[in-house]
Amino acid sequence: MLRMVVLVSGRGSNLQAILDAIENRRLAAEVAKVISDVPNAYALKRAKRAGVPTCCVERRDHSSRADFETALADCAEEAEPDLIVLAGFMRVLGRGFLDRFSGKVINIHPSLLPSFRGLEAQRQALEAGVRYAGCTVHFVNLGVDSGPIIDQRVVPVLPEDDVETLSARILEQEHDLLVDVIRRFGAGLV
Ligand code: GRF
Repeated sequence: MLRMVVLVSGRGSNLQAILDAIENRRLAAEVAKVISDVPNAYALKRAKRAGVPTCCVERRDHSSRADFETALADCAEEAEPDLIVLAGFMRVLGRGFLDRFSGKVINIHPSLLPSFRGLEAQRQALEAGVRYAGCTVHFVNLGVDSGPIIDQRVVPVLPEDDVETLSARILEQEHDLLVDVIRRFGAGLV
């Protein structure tokens, strides 16, 4: 069975979608550990509620980015993951982490990449005036939201949308897309 480590920084609704899919037997996989870089991230509460081991690795406890990434990678490696999912993890990872999990790290981003990389992707989409927005799951490389695309979902942008309404419409698709990609990864289809 596919063993995952999920990296989070905040709310954790994508983590919850994964946990729910496992609970409902829509996904044959296991979340072996949830790691946060933010101690009070709500995602950690969701993990604990589901009985998933958690740990927190904070950037400020490490003198360099390299040390931080080594600690993060050590913590992930302990769980022997087949797949590492960045689900609202708000830091860019470098070689110190990625070289240890080659081809095994995926991220979910709330835009139709390669458009609107980085922060506030939904606001960027609204400001650009696009008629369609969406989300992307991609492999993580050294760039920001720039690795090979695995799959995407599209939603319309409505005339009355603000950042909140558009983000909510995209988020619903994120939850579905992420679970779907994990299922396919587990089946060797990605
Ligand atoms: C999502 O929009 C995700 O695409 C982005 O950060 C947000 C995380 O939301 N990377 P949540 O923490 O999963 O609720």
